[in-house]
Amino acid sequence: MKKIIVTGGAGFIGSNFVHYVVNNHPEVQITVLDKLTYAGNKENIAGLPEDRVKLVVGDITDAPLVENLVKEADAVVHYAAESHNDNSLKDPFPFVQTNLIGTYTLIEACRKYGVRYHHVSTDEVYGDLPLREDLPGHGEGKGEKFTAETPYNPSSPYSSTKAGSDLLVRAWVRSFGLKATISNCSNNYGPYQHIEKFIPRQITNILSGARPKLYGNGKNVRDWIHTNDHSSAVWLILTKGTIGETYLIGADGEEDNKTVLELILELMGQPKEAYDQVKDRAGHDLRYAIDSSKLREELGWQPKFTNFREGLADTIQWYTEHQEWWQAEKQAVEANYAKNGQ
Ligand code: NAD
Ligand code: DAU
Repeated sequence: MKKIIVTGGAGFIGSNFVHYVVNNHPEVQITVLDKLTYAGNKENIAGLPEDRVKLVVGDITDAPLVENLVKEADAVVHYAAESHNDNSLKDPFPFVQTNLIGTYTLIEACRKYGVRYHHVSTDEVYGDLPLREDLPGHGEGKGEKFTAETPYNPSSPYSSTKAGSDLLVRAWVRSFGLKATISNCSNNYGPYQHIEKFIPRQITNILSGARPKLYGNGKNVRDWIHTNDHSSAVWLILTKGTIGETYLIGADGEEDNKTVLELILELMGQPKEAYDQVKDRAGHDLRYAIDSSKLREELGWQPKFTNFREGLADTIQWYTEHQEWWQAEKQAVEANYAKNGQ
């Protein structure tokens, strides 16, 4: 695999994957196809060797552009998406366009030219799980984490378009022999995440002298994984995964939002209660939890960044030292949330 296209390679997770491949696989050349929406930033892949990484600014729904790139490539790794649940509740249209039509455009091109395709998806396609406190045995029993066999049951416009895109890929594998794999990962954290998302929003609020905002009672649980671990898993699936298979990626990082927020406050030297409880998200998923045993047992993957406290401290340090990366957008992001009482 010498030439790969990484869609969304200027976003949070896609750019991490580009760095991962550049640092670990010197034989691979990367074309990043990215529209540079509000969530994409050239700076995320700045300074990488020009003979290894080329940025094409364009839309994944642009079929002639996509075909021209795909016919020269050995593989496509598809990260590009509209990725934020709150935005999808305000205006679902870009989610339908990018996540569904964009995926369709890419898999049609890969089918035509026989190109290997990896589809990056989310655990949110499975809907949510009850809180552990509401389960007999506190959630340690079978069927209490997501597996590749869990039925799809998405809650939001974002997650339903991601679910639809996964189903397109599955159908293209079965009906047209598309050489595809799918991965469904849990919540990522780390440097370069857009400040609309939970962890960077709270860190940058504190750095800006504003109070963090917790939706509802803060009991909702997310299964946190460091982006670097997501990237190593995707590379392994791309190169060693079985065609047609779905792999769940997670690092056993379940934490409720209130606990995460209190940890951020503590690490940033703030009182534990120095935050506002704001309006809850409509349709807010309660708990996500990933069973990643298939990925670990079949492909030998292991997460390396398993100390959440340390990972969070490093992330706080990164946002503290890179204020020029986020400051210009902060006011507009918060004004947008404020309109919604959040
Ligand atoms: P992000 O919003 O930070 O980045 C998305 C990137 O896609 C941006 O660079 C943007 O410019 C680009 N993009 C958007 N629409 C495009 C279009 N039409 N054409 C070309 N480029 C376009 O998102 P992220 O958090 O890095 O997520 C990346 C992928 O990983 C998504 O598919 C998401 O569903 C999936 N995922 C995210 C998480 C998470 O915790 N953030 C977890 C599991 C899976
Ligand atoms: O599970 C994977 C998904 O994780 C990805 O598919 C999505 O692309 C990614 O955005 C993320 O979705 P979430 O909705 O879980 O992430 P978000 O950062 O928006 O919110 C995390 C939790 O924090 C969620 O329970 C809502 C809550 N929250 C969020 C914000 C922005 C708050 O309490 N306050 C906030 O200000």
